[in-house]
Amino acid sequence: MIPVGFTLQPEPAFLERCHAIIAAADYWEVAPETLWRQGSDGRLEPNGFHRQFAAMARRGRFFVAHGVGLSMGTAAAADAGRRRKWLARVRADHSTFGFRWYTDHLGASSVDGLAMTLPLPLPMTGAVARVVRRRLAQMQRVVGDVGVENNVAYFTLGDPLDEARFLMDCVRARGSHLLLDLHNVYTMAQNFGFDAAEYLRRLDLAKVIELHVSGGSDSSPAWLPSGRVMRLDGHDGAVPEMVWRMLEAVAPRCPNLRGVTLERMEGTVEEGDVPLLAAEMTRLRATLQRRRRA
Ligand SMILES: [Fe+2]
Repeated sequence: MIPVGFTLQPEPAFLERCHAIIAAADYWEVAPETLWRQGSDGRLEPNGFHRQFAAMARRGRFFVAHGVGLSMGTAAAADAGRRRKWLARVRADHSTFGFRWYTDHLGASSVDGLAMTLPLPLPMTGAVARVVRRRLAQMQRVVGDVGVENNVAYFTLGDPLDEARFLMDCVRARGSHLLLDLHNVYTMAQNFGFDAAEYLRRLDLAKVIELHVSGGSDSSPAWLPSGRVMRLDGHDGAVPEMVWRMLEAVAPRCPNLRGVTLERMEGTVEEGDVPLLAAEMTRLRATLQRRRRA
């Protein structure tokens, strides 16, 4: 049976409200950098959530590390010190959490020494794929199995459908995997007007180690002068039916799948959202059970 995971967010209200869902998961996803703070000597050190989650690591579930800010696709000299500190901290965390695998998002999150908060899209060239492969190789010296997640971008440098080929180029080395986020594919397909099934057809699903499912929301028509509504990857709403259908179609075709994670953002769970999240975890498990029977 494919394990079902849930995000651990560093937010007391989230952890309290999602307590039963967290307990029902087979594994937990953490963004390592949310468990750090900068020490007085400039080094990254564990924060209070790190200690709280480390205590959970003894409960028989496993952890996966899923970062946002390593900056997979940039190689400026100005970022080298940051990257070294970052990976040294993940190495220390790995000795605590024993991460089964370690992934980050495709993109540029640090550009010439400036942190971008969220990863920006990359030029989808062979040279940039080489940078991503180098980054994955560095990560692999910390955790044996590593990967990159297809991100959501609201603009792209090139044909958005071409991202599938670019991703495959990035993860072609042994031990490098694809973390396929289905809501991200859905969001990109909605906003750019491409066929999500065509994007999925262009991937080698044997490279997929993990799938993500989550929900989002639509932007307000008042945001853009044209009144256009964009799909937002907010991890703040119900998993759309289309994403469930994508999961049903894709999961049986991923022979090396090791986990499916339901993601939810901190600050988006009120008491009234908990029954939906619990039902989504149940549906996720049932969908994967059907995959096994099939
Ligand atoms: Fe994701």
